[in-house]
Amino acid sequence: MSFESREGLLHAEAVPLTAIAERVGTPVYVYSASMMRARYAELDAALTGSRHQLCYAVKANSNLSVLRLFAGLGAGFDIVSAGELQRVVSAGGDPARVVFSGVGKSSEEIDFALKHAVGCFNIESGGELVRLAERARLLGKKANVAVRVNPDVDAKTHPYISTGLKENKFGVPAEQALELYAAIRADMHLNALGIACHIGSQISSVQPFAEALDNLLVLVDTLETQGVSLGHLDIGGGLGISYQNEPCLDAAVYGSTLTQRLANRDLTLVIEPGRYLVGEAGLLLTTVEYLKPRPTHEHKNFAVVDAAMNDLIRPALYRAWHPVTRVTPPAPGLEPRPWDIVGPVCESGDFLAEDRRLALAAGDLLAISAAGAYGMVLSSNYNSRSRPAEVMVHGDSFQVVRRRETLRDQMALEQPDERCAARP
Ligand code: LLP
Repeated sequence: MSFESREGLLHAEAVPLTAIAERVGTPVYVYSASMMRARYAELDAALTGSRHQLCYAVKANSNLSVLRLFAGLGAGFDIVSAGELQRVVSAGGDPARVVFSGVGKSSEEIDFALKHAVGCFNIESGGELVRLAERARLLGKKANVAVRVNPDVDAKTHPYISTGLKENKFGVPAEQALELYAAIRADMHLNALGIACHIGSQISSVQPFAEALDNLLVLVDTLETQGVSLGHLDIGGGLGISYQNEPCLDAAVYGSTLTQRLANRDLTLVIEPGRYLVGEAGLLLTTVEYLKPRPTHEHKNFAVVDAAMNDLIRPALYRAWHPVTRVTPPAPGLEPRPWDIVGPVCESGDFLAEDRRLALAAGDLLAISAAGAYGMVLSSNYNSRSRPAEVMVHGDSFQVVRRRETLRDQMALEQPDERCAARP
């Protein structure tokens, strides 16, 4: 539907990717608006059994046009910094539907969020709760709070993106959560609105979510006996997508599993999906610059492309697998062989894909798929490379939604300031 080959030419919706490459150049991220909408609608429908709020996890892809699209669908947002909140506000999102997650919110960030009256602060430690209460008192505000509980559930995902185990830095253990709720209750500047968790990312089975939810419901019941009645339960994000052959999480099963458990309870279900909504709705378009076949080493042929680890770091960082496909058919007679798709960055870890059987020639356009989540947001200027452009496709038209960075942009922040004398 969103990215498919038509007569041998890969399209984003009804736009041939060659048209985007010609107009905008490469590397460029290309997003499908209709796929983002479809994924949102699918999750929303899967949760109809419960009162619910989808809070898109901004960190997955924070482009303002992506945020505007979700705001237009009535989404809330999961944020982890003042920067993400500013983006949500700039994109027309409703701060009342924002949950503010993260282990290290600064006083400035807390103040900024209080002034915008965000819907809920997800608290991750006793120290943070004390800080929030103090800032709310100083500003004369009352903060809605959910304690992020670490449910000690194994999400069976990559260790870097697993967050719900005892040994991870996130959330607080159940026993401590009860103490924090007692402190919230005793403070007139705090309101116990909900309870939260997030167990990890790229989770392909429903079972860890069910387990986490059950653990949270035990706490909800205990709190009820203590006279604390919560309004929402936030199960976090983490819904997995299909990169290689792994099964994409089944939204309908996910939805029914969660909503069944909440039947007969007066709780709004909050979820914080990022990757599921945008991951498969984006690809990175790149051009082959050079081929370095190695006649003596059949399995180490290098195709050097114009995108690199600074544009898409997931393969280098997690050994993540992204599909790589040609955009146009190969020239007749070109033999496929295994290629490592590598970038121009001066590191052996700079690969986008390894050992892919493709018929390639210099100048070919390649699509690196499932790159809509944790792609552009994790890009950098390493090797002083300018970050790629981003394009949003709507049916048969497309729009640059972030222009390609220039060298001038890169150097703009490096004009030396006045020297400051260090005095004893
Ligand atoms: N909520 C919280 C509190 C989170 O920490 C995260 C992701 C999400 C929601 C959204 O998770 P999602 O639905 O996207 O799985 N850079 C890694 C992923 C890091 C995820 C961090 N937290 C990657 O490229 O795989």
